Amino acid sequence: MSNPSKIDFQTKCVHSGINDNEYGSVIPPIYQTSTFKFKSAEHGAALFAGEEKGYIYSRMLNPTVEAMENAIAELEGGHKALGCASGMAAAHTIFASLLSAGDHVVCSSAVYGPTSTLLNTVMKKFGVETSFVDSSNLQEVEDAMKPCTKLVFIETPGNPTLCISDIERISKIAHTNKSIVAIDNTFMSPALQNPLALGADIVMHSLTKFLNGHADVVGGVVVVKDEETYKLFRKTLNQTGGVIDPFNSFLVHRGLKTLHLRMEKHCSNAQKIAGWLEEHPFVKELRYPGLKSHPHYETGLKQQKGPGGLITFEVDGGFEAGKVLMNSVKLCTLAVSLGGVETLIQHPASMTHFSMGQEARKAAGISDGLVRLSVGIEKAEDILSDLEQALKKVKELNLYPAEN
Ligand SMILES: Cc1ncc(COP(=O)(O)O)c(C=O)c1O
Repeated sequence: MSNPSKIDFQTKCVHSGINDNEYGSVIPPIYQTSTFKFKSAEHGAALFAGEEKGYIYSRMLNPTVEAMENAIAELEGGHKALGCASGMAAAHTIFASLLSAGDHVVCSSAVYGPTSTLLNTVMKKFGVETSFVDSSNLQEVEDAMKPCTKLVFIETPGNPTLCISDIERISKIAHTNKSIVAIDNTFMSPALQNPLALGADIVMHSLTKFLNGHADVVGGVVVVKDEETYKLFRKTLNQTGGVIDPFNSFLVHRGLKTLHLRMEKHCSNAQKIAGWLEEHPFVKELRYPGLKSHPHYETGLKQQKGPGGLITFEVDGGFEAGKVLMNSVKLCTLAVSLGGVETLIQHPASMTHFSMGQEARKAAGISDGLVRLSVGIEKAEDILSDLEQALKKVKELNLYPAEN
């Protein structure tokens, strides 16, 4: 796109990654092919030697995948992006590219469960040590830094506690220590937060969530700032093989066109629902970045363009009461994942964060009664009535006859 810096984000969502296509197709075609024909033996050799630009084999690069990668790189304000088979493949690409035995990682304690498990198992096996810190507390980040800290990996807002970490100040702390900063921006999307502009070096997403937005793709992406990092990451991804395929890339690219609209609606719906839940007598410990009661509300205002679509809370009566809520919803769907157009509800301690183990969950502030709501783009009042009827079922449990 010409002069992209002058174009509004909303317009970029529609046009990014779209170039002139064969036959004038307005949308990039799905190049559902594993391999590409060379014009001659010399041509093939020149492509492999990097002397000519072109496509060789879809694990290495594919035009449909590349169009989606270019779109996301543009939306994040990065140099280039790498499409991965999942968000976890994106996290692994970052870790496997940057870390060697003897390196140390500082990571938010409130991260997606399997991210902490990956660091604590596979990466640990290869000699990489990780310190998990409450990254919303800058002192904890600073205190955890060591001379061998190669990477600071932050998820903000964190999953599932929604604690918010100051990207700009953490980047300064890390860069003083010559460490690289990677941000998992899955909960915000580039519509609401741009970590590279705040000083981070690398951004990753689970494409499975808001970027695709329709709960029909598993994918991931890493966005980098410079060609050297891009080449290093591309080499890793090519060797480890965790690439996204053309059809899923096509779907993600299609989803991006409505990202701006969807994020606006996720935010306005979640704001209404969080405000309503906060006043409900059976709801406690509610966290939503758009409410002043959120402990990091000011940091969120500083670095986010909106509070997002995730709400966490506990139902009075603990996990038993939470289970009744989850089993009683009719419109909200009981399922893990987030960021799709439909509202989902789930229980982190027994689902998304089960693999971390109870001790790590406790350290990350994930209580056994915590329920996570990913608010969709339905009519807010319909979601509210569903939650209201489900909370009435909780009342029927008769856990608190005296007060209610
Ligand atoms: C914040 C965050 N990062 C990474 C992931 C992993 O993504 P995927 O499931 O696409 O591998 C998830 C999945 O829920 C997530 O919520």
